[in-house]
Amino acid sequence: MALNLDAIGKKIGPVSKEYNWKDLVLYALGVGAGFDDLEYCYEQKLKVIPSFSIASVFGFLAEVAGDSNVDLSGILHGEQDIIFHNPIPTEGTLSTEGAITHMYDKGAEKGALVVAEADTMHSNGSKLFTNIFTIFGRKDGGFGGDPGPSETVEFPDRDPDFEEKASPSPDQPLMYRLSGDVFQLHVDPDFAKASGFEKPIMHGLCTHGFACRAVIKHLFPGEPERMSRFRVRFSRTIYPGVPVTTQIWKMEEGRALFRTINAENGDVVIDRGVVEWLSKEEMERRARLGGINFDDRVAIVTGAGAGLGRAYALELGRLGAKVVVNDLGGARDGTGGGTSAADQVVEEIKSSGGEAMANYDSVATAEGGQAIVDAAIQAFGKVDIVINNAGILRDKTLAKMEPENWDAVMDVHLKGAYNVTRPAFVKMRENRYGRIILTTSGAGLYGNFGQTNYSAAKMGLLGFMNTLRIEGDKHNINVNTIAPVAATRLTEDVLPPELFEKLKPEFVAPLVLYLCSEQCTGTGAVYNAGMGYYNRAAVVTGPGVVVGDGKEIPTPEAVAASMGKIKSLESAEEFPNAMAAFGPMLAAFSPKKKEAAEAGGRGLTVKAVFDGMVDAFQPDAASGVDVVFQWDISGTQSGLWSVVVKDGTCEVSEGSHSSPTTILKMADEDFLKMITGELNAMSAYTGGKLKIEGDLMKSQLIEKLFKL
Ligand code: NAI
Repeated sequence: MALNLDAIGKKIGPVSKEYNWKDLVLYALGVGAGFDDLEYCYEQKLKVIPSFSIASVFGFLAEVAGDSNVDLSGILHGEQDIIFHNPIPTEGTLSTEGAITHMYDKGAEKGALVVAEADTMHSNGSKLFTNIFTIFGRKDGGFGGDPGPSETVEFPDRDPDFEEKASPSPDQPLMYRLSGDVFQLHVDPDFAKASGFEKPIMHGLCTHGFACRAVIKHLFPGEPERMSRFRVRFSRTIYPGVPVTTQIWKMEEGRALFRTINAENGDVVIDRGVVEWLSKEEMERRARLGGINFDDRVAIVTGAGAGLGRAYALELGRLGAKVVVNDLGGARDGTGGGTSAADQVVEEIKSSGGEAMANYDSVATAEGGQAIVDAAIQAFGKVDIVINNAGILRDKTLAKMEPENWDAVMDVHLKGAYNVTRPAFVKMRENRYGRIILTTSGAGLYGNFGQTNYSAAKMGLLGFMNTLRIEGDKHNINVNTIAPVAATRLTEDVLPPELFEKLKPEFVAPLVLYLCSEQCTGTGAVYNAGMGYYNRAAVVTGPGVVVGDGKEIPTPEAVAASMGKIKSLESAEEFPNAMAAFGPMLAAFSPKKKEAAEAGGRGLTVKAVFDGMVDAFQPDAASGVDVVFQWDISGTQSGLWSVVVKDGTCEVSEGSHSSPTTILKMADEDFLKMITGELNAMSAYTGGKLKIEGDLMKSQLIEKLFKL
C-alpha cells in the first residue's frame, strides 16, 4: 500500500475537544506531576503543562495517519514541534484544523516521513498553539519522493547545565492513557508482544511530558505560560518503571537544548530537544494587548484617509501592524484628489509610535491596485492583510442612472477589490498566510432606493468572496466581508441625525480587526456591524420540493400550486460551494440516497449497512485484491458478517468465514458512527473502539473498496 500523496494540502478538521481542570490534572498526573509541582494538580491554583497541547489533539493525529495511508504496522511518532501563541486557559473547547504539508522519502530501507501542521484555537477566540507532527512510516519509503531537509541539533561540548531525574512508575502508561492515547501497545501485553516488545512500552508523549516539566522547572520555574516553543525527536522506546534523566543546556536567555536519556543504560529516548521561552517583558506586553496583535504583519487599508478606513488603520497601527494607508483623497463622488487625507492618518499612526506609509493610488484601475501592493512590498517586504474599504457614492434612480455613474461605482467598489486583492493574493499565497476583508453594504444585502449601481457592486463582492474563499482555503488565506453602518461623509445625509451621533466608525473596527487577526480562522462569512451590535448574514437555501415526477416537464400551474413549499425557508441550509448546493436537487431524484438519508434520520441499522454493502462496492478499486473481511459486531444489533472481495467482485453473507484475512470487531453504535462519518476509522482504531486481528494492512483497503 502506497502513501496517498494526494492527501498533501487537504484540510483536516476541525477536530474539537472540550476540557476542564480535571482533564489538566489527569494529564499532569499521567506525566508524573505530584506534590512537588502541585500547581499542575490542584484546581485552586492551576497551571497548565504546555505539552498538554499535544494530548489534546490525538483526534487530529489519527486523521493524519488515516488520510496519508501510512502503513500502521510500521508507524512511529518521529518528531513533535509545538509553537505556543497564547497561554492555555484552564477550561474551554479546543478546535484543531490543519493539513498534511509534506511527505518525504528517506528510501526503501529507511522509510518515509509524513509531516502535518495544525493550529488549535480556543473557544475564547484566541489561537493557542501550532503543532507540527512528523510521523515516521518505517514501511513506506522508496516512493521516489524528495528526501526533505535534514536538520540536527548540536549539543554543546560540556556537561549539561541542569539535570532532572525522574522515575516514571511501572504503571505510568495506565494513568497517561486516560488523557486520550489509548493505543493497545501501551496497555495490552499480548499486543505489545505481537509488536515485538517484551511488554507494553511508555508512550513517547508521556516521556515528552516528563521532559516538558523538567525544562520548566529549571529554566522558568512556576511560569509554564512563558513557553513559546517545544520541539523534540523521539529516538528510542523505553519501558515503564525505568528512570529517566533530562539533560538541559541553556544556550542563551530564552533558548535551551535538551534531551532525555534512559538513566539505566544511557540510551537517548528524546533527542534534539529545543525549548524557547518569552521574557517577562514580552509576557507583560502580550497581556496588555489582550491576545490580538499584529506584530510583524503588513496591512493595506484602501480608502483609509477618512471614515471607517481611518479607524481600521489607526487600530492596526496601534496593535503593531505596518500599515499602508491608501487614499486618493477625492470627494464623496470620487472626483478630485489630494495627498492630505492619507498623510494625516500616517502622521497620527506615527505619532502614537506605530509604523505606516501613505499611498495615493486609485483602487479603480488595475495599475493602481498593483502600485498599492508594490508599495507595501517595497516598504515592508510583504502583505498579510488587505482591507478593501475605499468607496464612493453616485446615487440615482435607475431611470436616471447614466453609464458613467454606474461604471464609476463599479470601478471603485467591485473592480477596486479585484484590482488590489489579486496582486496581494499572489504574494499571500507565497507566504501561506493572508487575511482579506471586503466591504459590502446593507444596500447590497437588502436593497436601498436610488442605489442600483452601489447595491449591485456591493453584492458582487459577495460572489467574489464566495469563490476566493475556496481558492484561498488551502493557502491559509481567509476572506470575510463586512457590512458596516457608521457615521461618515457617505452616510451624513442618509442616516437620521439622532443616530449619527451613536454610529462611531470605531464601533465597526473591533470586528474588522478580529477578522484580520491570526486568531480568526473563519472564512467566507458576512457580518453586519454598527453601534456595538454585530451579527452574521448568510445566503441560505430552503428544502424545496419536487414538482411532478422529474421526467415530464411540470406545468406552470403545477409550479404555482407548489409555491408555498418552493418558497419555504423552514430548516433552510447554508452550503459551502455550488456543488454542495446542487446536492439536494440530485438527492431528490435518487431513491437510494433519499432512502439512506431517511434511514439515517430514523436510525440506520447494522443489518441495513451490510445489506447495502454490495451496492457500495467499487469494482474499479478492487483489481488484484483478494481479501476476506470478517466483521464481528457486538451490542443489541450484534452479528457476524463476512465480506469476500476477489477478482473485482464482492460477496457479503451473514455468519463467519472459515479463513478470514482480517477480523474487525466493533460495538454496533461505534460501527454506525463510523459508517455515517461521525467517527474516523483511524481514531476508532487507535482509541480501541475498532479491534483488528489478522492482516492489519488489508483493513486500510476498506475505505477504497466501499463508498458507503
Ligand atoms: P468615506 O467617504 O468616509 O471613506 C471612503 C474613503 O475612500 C475616502 O477617504 C475616499 O477618498 C476613499 N476613496 C474613494 N475612492 C477611492 C479610490 N478610487 N482609491 C482610493 N481611495 C478611494 O466613507 P466610509 O463610510 O468610511 O466608507 C468606507 C466603506 O464602507 C465604503 O466601501 C462604503 O461603501 C462602505 N460602507 C459604509 C457604510 C457607512 O455606514 N458608512 C455603510 C455601508 C458600507
